[in-house]
Amino acid sequence: MVIDSMGMPQADDTNETPARRRILVWDIPTRLFHWSLVLCFTVAYLTSESERWQLWHVTAGYLFGALLLFRLIWGVVGTRYARFSNFLHGPKTVLAYLASLLSRHPKHYVGHNPAGAWAILAMLGLGIFTVITGWASFSDYGDWFGELHEGIVNLLLLIIGIHVIGVLVSSLLHHENLVRSMVNGYKLGNAADSIQYAQWIIGALVALGLGIFLWALLTSRLPMLLP
Ligand code: HEM
Repeated sequence: MVIDSMGMPQADDTNETPARRRILVWDIPTRLFHWSLVLCFTVAYLTSESERWQLWHVTAGYLFGALLLFRLIWGVVGTRYARFSNFLHGPKTVLAYLASLLSRHPKHYVGHNPAGAWAILAMLGLGIFTVITGWASFSDYGDWFGELHEGIVNLLLLIIGIHVIGVLVSSLLHHENLVRSMVNGYKLGNAADSIQYAQWIIGALVALGLGIFLWALLTSRLPMLLP
């Protein structure tokens, strides 16, 4: 058992010399969450400036919020590497990881690496604030909510940029295509570190829930009626 710098017991998910073996790390709900989040963010961002596309902007925003809500729950009850407890690391661990990046042999983590994990937590937090301020601005609670909304989105965009660069750099340093891992769920590691189930049923339920929510939002034009 490894104790991290926050004093929390952690399973030893690092793997200095990963056996070159494909193991399942990301379950279906986590992958579905990730790529749906990217899609919703992109749609909301591209439709944000035009009155004509407002229904789509607000609809994508609601779906973005629903996805974040799901991820908060999945971060507690989900599979091993999806749990927050698996990727919450203190500053010492983050600094040690960053220092190891400068060496020729950066520390390998089966789940999220400690630095990437903080970018992820920042994106989740900023994402939630984006939805709340967007809703408050759309509901006419004050003009300043609109400005706050834009400011938070810009900050979120910055972290997304850092996130994507971090993913590409880690992929190069670890000789491992992390983008493909977020698609097929597999990374390199020891067989014992694999998650057991991909959680197809939960994934299907999440997809169904999202589909129904999208259909309800669009057919009722609910987003435009809510305020
Ligand atoms: C709107 C843009 C994006 C947002 C908000 C976002 C957010 C996130 C979040 C929250 C996670 C954690 C996943 C989880 O544990 O549930 C994550 C992981 C990940 N994202 Fe993104 N992401 C974005 C764009 C991208 C893009 C464009 C790529 C591809 C280049 C990408 C590749 C990845 C990968 C590979 C991981 C896993 C990282 C690891 O191995 O630790 N993301 N992202």
